[in-house]
Amino acid sequence: MMARGVSGSGTTPLLCSFFFISWLLFASSSHASSEALKRPPIVDGLSWNFYFSSCPMLETIVSRHLRKVFRKDTGQAPALLRIFFHDCFVQGCDGSILLDGNPNERDQPANIGIRPEALKTIEDLRALVHIQCGRVVSCADLVVLAAREAVSLSGGPRFPVPLGRKDGLSFSINGTGNLPPPFFRTGQLLERFGGRNFDATDVVALSGAHTFGRAHCATFFNRINQTEPPIDTSLANNLSNTCPSAQSPNTAVLDVRSPNVFDNLYYVNLKNRQGLFTSDQDLFSDARTKGIVNSFASNQTLFFDKFATAIIKLSQLDVLTGKQGQIRAKCSIPNSKNLVTSVVEEDSTAQM
Ligand code: HEM
Repeated sequence: MMARGVSGSGTTPLLCSFFFISWLLFASSSHASSEALKRPPIVDGLSWNFYFSSCPMLETIVSRHLRKVFRKDTGQAPALLRIFFHDCFVQGCDGSILLDGNPNERDQPANIGIRPEALKTIEDLRALVHIQCGRVVSCADLVVLAAREAVSLSGGPRFPVPLGRKDGLSFSINGTGNLPPPFFRTGQLLERFGGRNFDATDVVALSGAHTFGRAHCATFFNRINQTEPPIDTSLANNLSNTCPSAQSPNTAVLDVRSPNVFDNLYYVNLKNRQGLFTSDQDLFSDARTKGIVNSFASNQTLFFDKFATAIIKLSQLDVLTGKQGQIRAKCSIPNSKNLVTSVVEEDSTAQM
């Protein structure tokens, strides 16, 4: 009896383990496939696990370092996300915004307020990663990874990003003119982003990046006395105290409700006429985007989901892969300086 009892209770745990392991396998495979279904397609040459064998610790190194950086200066998170946008929208995600030059992309009007300390953070990440893995990871990929981390460490969604970009050899001064200015109305925004294959949902979701960070007076001075789109009176008064003139070097927060957190309160601001830029506030005035603003204001999960999808799309604009481009040894300088100078000169001559 004793022996049978023992052997009977020995079979039960075995059976339980079998069912448990089968359930785990089923659950993880169905989770993986639903994750895969949700992700937008990726372009040839990029992959979700590009550095799996050449730099397995990459994402951990980036995340650990940025955790420390943001603890000291929360402002670096929005700064890194903006650098990513301004890199990708000008000549593709090729690290061109990081390149030094006289002039360079960063001194152009559209790049007002790019924070030098965040550029240094990218270079610090590069040094850390190259010490650990050798020169296998591009600066362009580090910009994307830093942006992803900036969002998730500030309270936003965590999502995978495809990797494998190469660094470009040139930058484009004229290309910075493609960046949308803050006084754009929704129609102009939709047209500008539509030209790069982003729809109205993408545009409203991407504008949600203005849920944290700051802006200089010159970028929103036009809003202070604006009637269309409207502005909340007390916000207008505060902005006018902050900015005696458009030339004032002062700044205001982009999201009055939670300036350092990545959440959906940006959309609640828009419903209360508290959008900082014309381009933000007009999303709630235009019939094509108003419903999307409402849906994101009432459903943060939906916003996070659409934001992740749009960022993954943005991160693949005109990328260099495979034998194209290079992996810079220093993010601000191409490996072959002569080559770059000539490309830049040709570029500017062609556009004159
Ligand atoms: C929709 C069109 C957009 C316009 C017109 C716009 C314009 C601007 C302007 C003028 C600033 C203020 C810069 C300063 O004065 O320091 C700013 C800040 C910022 N933008 Fe945008 N932007 C747009 C889209 C985006 C996108 C797509 C992202 C990222 C995915 C983004 C992320 C940010 C962030 C995080 C800041 C704060 C930067 C900081 O605190 O240093 N923006 N944007």
